[in-house]
Amino acid sequence: MASEKVIGIDLGTTNSCVAIVENGTPTVIPNRGGYKTTPSMVAVTEAGKRLVGHIAKRQAITNAENTVYAAKRLIGRKWHSAQVRNAIATSSYRTVEGPHNDVRIVLREKEYSVPEISAMVLQEMRVIAEDYLGEPIAKAVVTVPAYFNDNQRQATRDAGEIAGLEVIRIINEPTAAALSYGYGRNLEKTVAVYDFGGGTFDISILEIGQNGVFKVIATAGDTFLGGEDIDARVIDWLVQEFKKEHGIDLRQDRMALQRLKDAAEKAKCELSSVRETEVNLPFIISSGRNEALHLQKVITRPLLEQLSTDLVERTIDICRQTLADAELHTDEIEEVLLVGGMTRMPRIHLAVAEFFRREPSKGVHPDECVALGASIQGYALVDESQEMVLLDVTPHALGIVTQGGYFEVLIPQNTTVPTHRQKIFTTSRENQTAVKILVMQGEHELAEQNELLGEFVLTGLRRAPKGQVEIEVTFEINADGIVSVRAKDLDTGLEQSIQVTATSGLTRDEISNMMRNAGDHLLERRSSEEVEVAKQEAERLIGEIERLFPQVEQIVAQSDFGREAIEKARAVVDRAKIAVEKRDLASLKEQIEGLARTQRMFKGVVAKTL
Ligand SMILES: Nc1ncnc2c1ncn2[C@@H]1O[C@H](COP(=O)(O)OP(=O)(O)OP(=O)(O)O)[C@@H](O)[C@H]1O
Ligand SMILES: [Mg+2]
Repeated sequence: MASEKVIGIDLGTTNSCVAIVENGTPTVIPNRGGYKTTPSMVAVTEAGKRLVGHIAKRQAITNAENTVYAAKRLIGRKWHSAQVRNAIATSSYRTVEGPHNDVRIVLREKEYSVPEISAMVLQEMRVIAEDYLGEPIAKAVVTVPAYFNDNQRQATRDAGEIAGLEVIRIINEPTAAALSYGYGRNLEKTVAVYDFGGGTFDISILEIGQNGVFKVIATAGDTFLGGEDIDARVIDWLVQEFKKEHGIDLRQDRMALQRLKDAAEKAKCELSSVRETEVNLPFIISSGRNEALHLQKVITRPLLEQLSTDLVERTIDICRQTLADAELHTDEIEEVLLVGGMTRMPRIHLAVAEFFRREPSKGVHPDECVALGASIQGYALVDESQEMVLLDVTPHALGIVTQGGYFEVLIPQNTTVPTHRQKIFTTSRENQTAVKILVMQGEHELAEQNELLGEFVLTGLRRAPKGQVEIEVTFEINADGIVSVRAKDLDTGLEQSIQVTATSGLTRDEISNMMRNAGDHLLERRSSEEVEVAKQEAERLIGEIERLFPQVEQIVAQSDFGREAIEKARAVVDRAKIAVEKRDLASLKEQIEGLARTQRMFKGVVAKTL
């Protein structure tokens, strides 16, 4: 049975990280390669094998079309949105429109929903934790960017479910970072968390109070502003330079594009520690005359800064706005936490230090603190003795569409969650039996500029004269930041049924199907791993026995009994070799026992005669 242990997962655009609280100490769990973060990449090989993490990243260039990265940029988004258009324009994998205006990713002719892809990453993180802890894990706290809207949160929750995890809470990434910073330190401080990752930017202002109270005062961000966009600027520049030189557009070639992407990111990271670096991509493409062309360019730190200056400025503008929303001055911020890999870029570090007029804290690890915070929250949710109160806010205003296409706000941005608001709707026609309500999230006064969460139709209303039926609708945002709507007929007190038209979300049936599929793959993965481990063990033992053979033979060959033992040992080794060849788990296990016995006997013989 799975334990009560809860893991915390930072499901990042570029990298994911898993942590757990062990004996009261939050700890990051390394993967089998010893790395504390795992690339959020998924691939399907030619043989139909699924790869996740480092192993997917390593083959990305040669299998560009079937390797997914940055799926988080697509999660919970609509096919026609500007962000999806933008993201897929530069991606090397193929996408198509799904049945709910959502995005589907095509890998080896098979279509996957985005939550399904994210589920593969979550499942990998779960397996990393299970391998480390040696027991099955069923519960997780998963983080999302603070600025994620309801559709993105729901889709992340779906991903958890498909991965077979019970997501007991979704928390915001900057909030998690603050938790890991303040946990167990009994601080009283106002802190700003500046989180600039691979795909998203978030800023949160929090008050950390005595007795473990973490209260978010304001949050904002941009879910389409991250390291990926800075890479894109570098790629654009390289493509332009190459075009100037050779008149060829590298974008036509998926493999060239993937190599460029790789090189651009690498150059960007290098420029955090050196002042210039060379991008060198031999045989990047062939010219029309069948000659191989190379790309070779020097990029300096000032050039990178120039290419990304407006992006960095945008993050600072958002900080300024958020401070204003929190009604705070920069000098009231007592600590600035830097989170996310992009904060290693010197220009970004400097911009933040300049804006807040203080050196950022060294107290958090930019890659690990989010997962650590998630594990702390998970621990606090199952361990009643933990005194910790987390009060987060909703990043977007929640409202409905009124006549004329305006947006009527019911729950303003930065309201502490969980929360709810009620509104009374009346019928506008005689015998009206249904009322349609469009629920949206966003900051724009024109409804269409905001994110549509769902169309709610109140049905089966009583037949009555116009305006006589009053329905009270309750809009609720829970601690996960997820929205729900309920309705009640005020006269009869009856709950009204609400039909929700899925916007970009998956249906229950789809989720169950995907769950089954993911479960099958996990079994397959687990068993193939087990075979691999058994095979290696068998090979190790065979090697050892074969090494001892000459010595043992010399020692025991004089007796019949000894010769018999040698024969038997040979037979054991031969059978084991067949099992290794067949990769059959049951017979491998059986043979390992025989091999181990033989090896012990051999060692005994040799030791005795020393
Ligand atoms: N030394 C470095 N200098 C500059 N950028 C870096 C450095 N190291 C990592 N990065 C960049 O940081 C980004 C990844 O950051 P991080 O792992 O925090 O993102 P993430 O958590 O996966 O994404 P998100 O939080 O946006 O979903 C990548 O764009 C990567 O290139
Ligand atoms: Mg992150």
